[in-house]
Amino acid sequence: MSIQYISDKKLFLLNTKNTSYQFRVAEFGFLEHLYYGRKIPDSADYLPVRLRHGFEANPYEAEKDRTISLDVLEQEYPGFGVSDFKTAAVRVQNGDGSDCIDLRYVSHKIYEGKYAIEGMPSLRENNGDWTTLEVLMRDSSSQIEVTLVYGVLGKYDVITRCARIYNVGNKNVFVQRAHSVCVAFPTDKLDAISFYGSWGHERNMERMPVRHGKYTIDSTRGISSHYYNPSMILCSQDATEEQGDCYGIALVYSGNFAMTVEVNDFKQTRIVAGVNPDTFCWRLAPKEHFCTPEAVMTYSYEGFTAMSHNFHRTIKYHLIPKQFIGKRCPVLINNWEATMIDFDEEQLMAIAEKAKTLGVEMFVMDDGWFGRRTDEYRGLGDWQCNWQKIPSGIAGLSKRIHSLGMKFGIWIEPEMVNEDSELYEEHPDWCIRIPGRNPTRQRYQLVLDFTRDEVIDNIYNQLYEEFKDAEIDYIKWDMNRSMTERFSTALPAERQGEVCHRYVLGFYKLMQRLTDAFPRVRLEGCCGGGGRFDMGVLYYAPQIWCSDDTDAIERIPIQYGTSFIYPPFTMGSHVSECPNQQTGRVVSIDTRAALAYFGTFGYELDPNRLTDEEQEAVCRQIDYYCRYGEVSAQGCYYRLTNPQTEKEYAAFLSVAEDQTKAVLCFIQQVSGANKGIIYLKLRGLLENENYEILELGMTCSGAALMYAGLPMPQIKADNEARVYTLCVMQE
Ligand code: GLA
Repeated sequence: MSIQYISDKKLFLLNTKNTSYQFRVAEFGFLEHLYYGRKIPDSADYLPVRLRHGFEANPYEAEKDRTISLDVLEQEYPGFGVSDFKTAAVRVQNGDGSDCIDLRYVSHKIYEGKYAIEGMPSLRENNGDWTTLEVLMRDSSSQIEVTLVYGVLGKYDVITRCARIYNVGNKNVFVQRAHSVCVAFPTDKLDAISFYGSWGHERNMERMPVRHGKYTIDSTRGISSHYYNPSMILCSQDATEEQGDCYGIALVYSGNFAMTVEVNDFKQTRIVAGVNPDTFCWRLAPKEHFCTPEAVMTYSYEGFTAMSHNFHRTIKYHLIPKQFIGKRCPVLINNWEATMIDFDEEQLMAIAEKAKTLGVEMFVMDDGWFGRRTDEYRGLGDWQCNWQKIPSGIAGLSKRIHSLGMKFGIWIEPEMVNEDSELYEEHPDWCIRIPGRNPTRQRYQLVLDFTRDEVIDNIYNQLYEEFKDAEIDYIKWDMNRSMTERFSTALPAERQGEVCHRYVLGFYKLMQRLTDAFPRVRLEGCCGGGGRFDMGVLYYAPQIWCSDDTDAIERIPIQYGTSFIYPPFTMGSHVSECPNQQTGRVVSIDTRAALAYFGTFGYELDPNRLTDEEQEAVCRQIDYYCRYGEVSAQGCYYRLTNPQTEKEYAAFLSVAEDQTKAVLCFIQQVSGANKGIIYLKLRGLLENENYEILELGMTCSGAALMYAGLPMPQIKADNEARVYTLCVMQE
């Protein structure tokens, strides 16, 4: 069993293939964190040293022993108001108005398999070697119980956590803070890595040393957001791609989150992560409970690559819907950049027909097909076909596309409403806004109140009716604004703090209903590009549109940052027109494809506007992706350069899981006269096998390619890419 309880020491040992996580029941029932890191055979209960620290606060039961203090005793799930003065994991306003919560161990159970969280996504059991630990804790005076839940997935070095908070008393209480996880490290010699951005340049990697005080990344926008991804890495200061301690934490959550790293004067670092307390207050009536979202943690002593691979494999085999594991998305063409909202059926057919001749496998109709949608100002909320634009209707159009031998996909934005829509005219109170206060508009739209079942039912029924007779293979699920004026007319004043989290639960409910009704349909998540790129969405949608910025060069840091947690096949990545619509930059169609191969590949352009040469390139590219996309997008991904600091060239590599094939991408960003040769040292190959490099007509051993390197060509142009395909030579 990967979880053990050593009863004489009251010690919990959680072991994965390469890691150990340990905590114990300490004095007076405090649950004390002991160790997380590289696997050790020993009990780590020798680590805490009880000392007086001066000005310490002591639990009542300690009597005259002043060495026991929550100032330094690191708890697994610290409460609030009782002398642990660092960032709390949980905080509650009790029935009497007090806000203390002091949790002590009561009991525990260990069982094979993986728990699930009702109404929320979490990693799937999927025949993994899972073991679960549940530890019950209680605050005896406030009648709050908390169950800490730990899932251990041995083979991928993953530990998951969540917490269930119960009101076992007889008065209402208000949960003001409910984090999913808290982990402590007995050192301040760590770097913190997070991923910031905004629309058009999501998930830029930023690394900095931890500092005294608190560093928080969060979202209050109702979505996980473009601004900070709900993930963080703590690593040793010497960590690189290939070596060093790396701890990754990511939330399976798509709403307002917060992650705080705090360092104190005793050189202790604590990280807490979960629902953002700034926009959260949950009323818990007697006998009710609240469950936090899941946090996924992994550790590697072998640097960022190994840590990322743990996340990538976990997402591939234990998060995305089972029917899409290892299944390539058909090469698609999306009409958004070609037409924007202003299109009609014949224009779409012209795009699809031409695309088909080039080898494209699926046509996706983007925003503009429904209700009054003639521009961005109207129509959202009415999910019926606009017959003026699409005279065949959705079923008819889907059949026309299918008769071309292509699959059919469609865009929706089900969480939104325009004031100029039938839905809004009938139900003006169905959106999130505060009565008597003008709502903030974004893209001229408002957010529907998904805390209400009748709203979700209405949208579900509309979509179901519209799609049930159509031949739909794929749905792009978009979301194009931040949430403001958080308020639901369906909730009493004291429960308005529940709106943001309830909204996310409503979003998950609709995703679940739609995917249950149409299990064959592949969802792609989207949020003004990559504004909701998180593990919560990936539970329902095996891929997410990575960014509205389709400029190949700008995509280098976006896909780089995204890859720390999320595997390439989750990143929607398309070849679009040049000059690029977002940046005006012109790069060759091959460079654009080179980037897109390392994601869910497709096109975002009008193929009728391509030159003959470009059309030939598209045929070649699709043929290539059909043969090697399973390596470039589904393989083990290696970052060979860091585009945040290296601007001259970028390189990355994907290696098939059986290591017999690899796809390498080299992009020379800045050319120069008489430059030295760049030798790229590849990774992840089989040392003793010989690989043929198809494009170079040469053969080298895996060892030579990894340890001596491969010379890159001198290219007389900026932003030119080369893609190399490596295949093990057959005997
Ligand atoms: C968002 C998406 C785009 C496109 C538009 C349509 O911005 O990210 O890809 O679908 O919406 O309105």
